[in-house]
Parts: sequence; structure tokens; C-alpha cells
Amino acid sequence: MEKYSKRIIIVHWLTLAMLVAAWFLGDSLDDARHGDGATIAGYMVHILVGGAVLLLTLLRIVFRRADGAPPPLGDTLLDKVATGVHHLLYLLLIVLPLSGLMQVLTSDVGKALMAGDASLLPKKFTGVPAHAVHEILVNVLIVVGTLHVLGAFKHQFVTKDNIMARMLLRDKK
Ligand code: HEM
Ligand code: HEM
Repeated sequence: MEKYSKRIIIVHWLTLAMLVAAWFLGDSLDDARHGDGATIAGYMVHILVGGAVLLLTLLRIVFRRADGAPPPLGDTLLDKVATGVHHLLYLLLIVLPLSGLMQVLTSDVGKALMAGDASLLPKKFTGVPAHAVHEILVNVLIVVGTLHVLGAFKHQFVTKDNIMARMLLRDKK
């Protein structure tokens, strides 16, 4: 079975790990803010992990251009939908972190980070559209990501065409 290149496979799974971490860190920031426990370090860690998702995605696009990718397994409508879902995932993996950056730049988070002073962190994000956009995009990513995982499971357990082997470093014997 033709596979993705090693570096693309590594970046795919590393992105998943970073995404899960960014999601939990983002949610805990929101909880901390409502409970008066928000810290500069908390924001910095979320921004670094979320920023890593953006960098990994840009790197992955470069790797994909250089290494190529295995062709779609078939030419059915579902195969076309799967390719569309992949494109949408790439778009979300770029736009979601950028909306986070916009949120920092257009709210008091930016000021608080520059001054290193947690008391300047905003209690609310009223009048900061990027905050709502960031939250909506997280939910869109969860829905589109779930579709992608369901598709992979369908291939693996219903169609049984061993598609997972394309995205795994080691071949199952
Ligand atoms: C793909 C990566 C990212 C994911 C999955 C993610 C996820 C989240 C989640 C789940 C929240 C909580 C939303 C809510 O319930 O209000 C959040 C909030 C936030 N995120 Fe991200 N984020 C990512 C990237 C970034 C980046 C790169 C930045 C900044 C450069 C950023 C800045 C923020 C800020 C400032 C908040 C508001 C926290 C608060 O409510 O006080 N995020 N993010
Ligand atoms: C348990 C979770 C996941 C599983 C089992 C999984 C599985 C797979 C598999 C088997 C492929 C190869 C599909 C093919 O050859 O046609 C693939 C490709 C891909 N995956 Fe995932 N994936 C998971 C999570 C994610 C997540 C969270 C994202 C991004 C948010 C993602 C983004 C992508 C993209 C963009 C491709 C297309 C690669 C390309 O052709 O450029 N995956 N995934």
C-alpha cells in the first residue's frame, strides 16, 4: 500500500496531540478567567501550543508539496467528500490559530502579556469579535474532525481497505 512520507505521518499525529492539548488549555483558560484564577503563564502556554499547530500545518503543506501523497482510494462521491474534508481541515488548522492571534491583538490580553501583569487580563471579551470567531471555529473543527475520524473508521472496519496503514509509520504484519 502506498503511504504518506514519514515526516507527513509524524506531523499528522503530532498535530492531533497539539490540538487536543490546545483545546484543553483553551477551555481551562476560560474556566480560570471566570473563576478569577487566570495567569499570564496559562495564556502563554495556550498561545505556544496553539501556535505550534499553525507552524506544524504550514510545515505539513510544504512537506506535502515536496513528497506528494498517495492517490485517493477510489473515485466515488464519498472519496470526493473525504478530500474536501481534508482541505477544510487544513483551512481550519490555519484560520483557527490566526483567530486566536487576532483575539490577543484586539483585546486586553495583548496589553497584559506585554506588561506581564495578570491583573490587566480581561474579565470579558465584549466587543472582541475574534473571541466569538475563535470559539465557533473550535466547534467547527471538532465537527469536521469527527467526520474525518468516522470516515477513517468506516474504511478500517466497514470497507476494510486498511487505509490506516497509509498514515502509520510501521506496517502491521
Ligand atoms: C489550533 C489551535 C487552538 C485551539 C484548538 C484553541 C482552542 C481554544 C479554546 C477551546 C478556547 C476556549 C474558548 C471558550 O470557551 O471561550 C480558547 C480560547 C482562547 N484562545 Fe485558543 N486555541 C488555539 C490557538 C490559539 C492561538 C494560536 C492563540 C493566540 C495566539 C489563542 C488564543 C486564545 C485566547 C486569548 C483565548 C481566550 C481565553 C479566555 O477565554 O480567556 N488560541 N482557545
Ligand atoms: C484519531 C484521529 C485520526 C485518525 C484515525 C486519522 C486518520 C487519518 C488517515 C487514515 C488519513 C489518510 C487518509 C487517506 O489516505 O486518504 C488521514 C489523513 C489526514 N488527516 Fe487524519 N486522522 C485523525 C485525526 C486528524 C485530525 C485531528 C486532523 C486535523 C484536524 C487530521 C487531518 C488530516 C488531513 C488534513 C489528512 C489528509 C492528508 C493529505 O492528504 O494531505 N486528522 N487521517
